[in-house]
Amino acid sequence: MIIERLSREHRNIETLLAVLERELEIFDRGDRPDYEVIRAVISYFELYPEMYHHPLEELVFAKLKRRDPAAAAKIGNLTLEHQKGTERLRRVAQAVDYVLANREILRQNVDKVVRDFIESERRHIMMEDRDFFPAALKALEPQDWTEIASASINHEDPLFSEAAEETFDTLRARILQLEQEAEAGRH
Ligand SMILES: [Fe+2]
Repeated sequence: MIIERLSREHRNIETLLAVLERELEIFDRGDRPDYEVIRAVISYFELYPEMYHHPLEELVFAKLKRRDPAAAAKIGNLTLEHQKGTERLRRVAQAVDYVLANREILRQNVDKVVRDFIESERRHIMMEDRDFFPAALKALEPQDWTEIASASINHEDPLFSEAAEETFDTLRARILQLEQEAEAGRH
């Protein structure tokens, strides 16, 4: 079921945001975070929501707009929100690149940019879980879900597939393992 899948993906995204936040705390207290973990989380976000999660949500949102324009209007401009998220992520990647290249950048600015990304993503996910998904479940007809499912399967992008889901599961497991190793090394 599509909404179940999107919700499951939100939990996965939250797990990675918690990993990023953990590394940020280490950075904030003046220690060296694990940059391999940070880069891996950034890469995950660059790929997964961009190419897979957001397009699927936007297919659902397009149907909601047709079935219940008022509910869709309450949610606002989902595509724009996703774009803003992409922009925040780009700033995170740039800040981390600056730190790694020993370029001039204030620690507090790095903190601000990363925290802004984490908090905005959490807020966005919370809104989708609370408003968007229930509205879609209420308003969409069985035919809509069938069309979304077939659109996502027929999509030329190979990322719309079970295989892609497995790839991302593997990626996430790898990040969590790296994080565990980093944590173990700190004690
Ligand atoms: Fe989402």
